[in-house]
Amino acid sequence: MAFTPRVFSGIQPSGDLHLGNYLGAIRRFVPLQNTHECIYCVVDMHAITVWQEPEDLRRRTYEVAAAYIAAGLDPKRSIIFNQSQVIQHAELGWIFNCVARVGWMARMTQFKDKAGKNTENVSLGLFAYPSLMAADILLYKSTHVPVGEDQKQHLELTRDIAQKFNHDYRKRLKVLGFDEEYFPLTEPVIAGPATRVMSLRDGTKKMSKSDTSDMSLLYMMDDADTISKKLRKATTDPAPLPEAVKGLEGRPEAANLVAIYAALSDKSPAEVLAQYAGAGWGIFKPALADLAVSVLGPIAAEMRRLVGDRAEMDRILRDGADRARTLAEANMKEIRQIVGFVR
Ligand code: AMP
Ligand code: TRP
Repeated sequence: MAFTPRVFSGIQPSGDLHLGNYLGAIRRFVPLQNTHECIYCVVDMHAITVWQEPEDLRRRTYEVAAAYIAAGLDPKRSIIFNQSQVIQHAELGWIFNCVARVGWMARMTQFKDKAGKNTENVSLGLFAYPSLMAADILLYKSTHVPVGEDQKQHLELTRDIAQKFNHDYRKRLKVLGFDEEYFPLTEPVIAGPATRVMSLRDGTKKMSKSDTSDMSLLYMMDDADTISKKLRKATTDPAPLPEAVKGLEGRPEAANLVAIYAALSDKSPAEVLAQYAGAGWGIFKPALADLAVSVLGPIAAEMRRLVGDRAEMDRILRDGADRARTLAEANMKEIRQIVGFVR
């Protein structure tokens, strides 16, 4: 069956937004508005799988929504809202907890990374996290999900859940006259030069909210001086920039800075190297800093303005939630019927 193309993605309001979130996700959300119906969520229910100070959770929820808008999402065209306002996410999440298997969850590398040695003491929600993520996506029968590389495994699990639901309920789907492929097998959209932005201090480690060294991340809200300082001090090898992408092999820090430049300027790494082949870091780093400031500066300024206008932000989130809920409830009515819940 052909599903209406629909884009869904989400970001947790669990730490300050960084360049990986911007280049791997938010920046790539924007052009999809021109071609698809898009739903962009601030996944606050996912965030509390690890402890969040309530006041921080609120502030960051506004910040992530503000980042979406400041980066170019139009709340009239795209649906922008925070997850907890549309309670159907939790409802479908529960049903998927009963579709997914414990063994599937136990294999998730993000869970293993976040839980570390402490698997007995993390929240049950952290373990079930991917099942709620599948619910976010499938509640709207979304067909495309733009994310960074680290989410690939979760999207494969989303497909597994969709497939198992379609299979387990196949008789019921037939009786009720639904298509046998009730949920779509969602496509991950992991594309572009910066699907995995690395730490500025170690080109083999992902740039991550949980990094303890501030110098390894560029935050979306960093001021111009901080951006320049962090990029100037970024770890690199001594060799100049190569002529071709192949010359970046085995040079993770150089490859990362070139990828960041490429993503910020909507070019390919090959085009960046065509311009900077043979240049030393004394030339490339300041050029990258200027570019980063020119892109991130205006976004940060707009984010500050938006988070200062709580009434406007509340209005946008409420409107987005109302539109999302209408779509979600239409599907939930069917899903309750398929599962056999009495209403
Ligand atoms: P999170 O901060 O885990 O909620 O991630 C939000 C989005 O940013 C997801 O689509 C991630 O895949 C993406 N993301 C997070 N870190 C990076 C990174 N270092 N490089 C590229 N994308 C990232
Ligand atoms: N798991 C994602 C992350 O950690 C956030 C997320 C939750 C998400 N639900 C989603 C991303 C649905 C895409 C679609 O980054």
